[in-house]
Amino acid sequence: MRLRPMPDEHAPIKRLVIFGATGDLAERMMFPSLYFLDADRLLPDDFTIVGAARSALDHAAFLALVRAAVEARPEGVDEGVWERFSARLRYCQADVSKPDGLSGLAAGGAVDIPTIYYLALSPSLYGAVCGALDKAGLACGDCRIVMEKPIGHDLATSRAINAEVASVFEENRVFRIDHYLGKETVQNLIALRFANTFFEPLWNNLAIDHVQITVAETEGVGDRWGYYDEYGALRDMVQNHMMQLLCLLAMEPPADAGADSVRDEKVKVLKSMRPFSRASAQQLSVRGQYRGGVVDGKAAAAYEEEKGGQSDTETFVALRADIDNWRWAGVPFYLRTGKRLAERRTQIVIQFKPLPHSIFGPQAQEDLMANRLVIDLQPKEDISLLLMNRRPGLSAQRLQALPLSLTLPSGGRRRIAYERLLLDVLACNPALFVRRDEVELAWAWVDGVAAAWREAGLPPKPYAAGSWGPAGAFALLERSGRAWLDE
Ligand code: BG6
Repeated sequence: MRLRPMPDEHAPIKRLVIFGATGDLAERMMFPSLYFLDADRLLPDDFTIVGAARSALDHAAFLALVRAAVEARPEGVDEGVWERFSARLRYCQADVSKPDGLSGLAAGGAVDIPTIYYLALSPSLYGAVCGALDKAGLACGDCRIVMEKPIGHDLATSRAINAEVASVFEENRVFRIDHYLGKETVQNLIALRFANTFFEPLWNNLAIDHVQITVAETEGVGDRWGYYDEYGALRDMVQNHMMQLLCLLAMEPPADAGADSVRDEKVKVLKSMRPFSRASAQQLSVRGQYRGGVVDGKAAAAYEEEKGGQSDTETFVALRADIDNWRWAGVPFYLRTGKRLAERRTQIVIQFKPLPHSIFGPQAQEDLMANRLVIDLQPKEDISLLLMNRRPGLSAQRLQALPLSLTLPSGGRRRIAYERLLLDVLACNPALFVRRDEVELAWAWVDGVAAAWREAGLPPKPYAAGSWGPAGAFALLERSGRAWLDE
């Protein structure tokens, strides 16, 4: 391997190149996020944003595309900000499959510019892009690379991509995005756990009965069918977003909030996850695929009808994950995610154990509910603690549940997760990005689930669009006397 000069993390970044600039992710997330950062004057003065893609677009067409992306946001466009922002925009036709496909980026000797390369592309191209950047002399020591999930389709492909990238960019220049880590509410999880004393003594198998993590979407797969059908809910959502949430909930207190301290603790959780087997796959997991139905009052087509193809891909998964360590032995983590479900909801429920003994009479006994902490991440943002109270009045002792909201209204605009993440790449702060070993351990566990499904011959069960998934998802909890929190 060629020796590279040590990168200077304080080197001022001069440009951002977005590969895949005409794609959906760039339009929905990147351009609006960059615009908002510019509106808040958080981009360096002499910073250019280069859209790179295979299409031949002229400057005016590119500006129109970016403008439409910003206009699609409810906040609208401020002409003053747009003037400043649009002056930063360039377009460059680029094709990594051609020998001189990146020559436009190197035009005018622009090779030593400290640049962030953002790959909003199919992961199968990540290696090729890095190779092409290196060959064109564009991967200077101060350059950084940002990669979207999923990194690979399984452990083997993920390792291969990571190795190709590592042959060009050192790990401290690689930013693997999991946009859930940029969400304000996910950040708040860390504050909730580690900025309060009273949760920690209860945060274990002595006090907690089980944990539920739900990421429910009402949207179908639509235009992303081609990508999604290859991945399914397990690889698209569980391997990354849901396992990151699980890690933040389950990890030990890190020594500090530094990137590696937190990532080391997440890695320990991933190493403690019990692998699935053929037998456990049937007991502990459910795959589903949506059929036609009604979502938000509108008729919704079946998954297979969206592209008219027969498919064994799951659009829903529910499973029980076990973390085999001292803190969590015996505490199931139930994960559930799916497309075309009844409601959009990302929610974590920490269900505490019931009272060891009740001193109350039979009537109050019926009122009793175990304490629980409910963390709503989106669309509602709220943390509430369910506590039991006395029902006021002269009658015999009766109890009632009081959901105590622990959230203050934030007032401001809800930021796009990418705004924070882009700012962190600019500041070369890797804390909210996923380290190579984390990605690979998560794949190793997910590969085990996929292999167990294959061996057990577990087909996706149909569920009606607009429902909460197949019946098996309820049975998964009912078998142990538990239930999803669905109200
Ligand atoms: C993406 C998945 O990573 O996350 C999508 O590929 C999913 O399938 C999306 O819809 C959900 O993100 P959010 O922020 O809308 O919950």
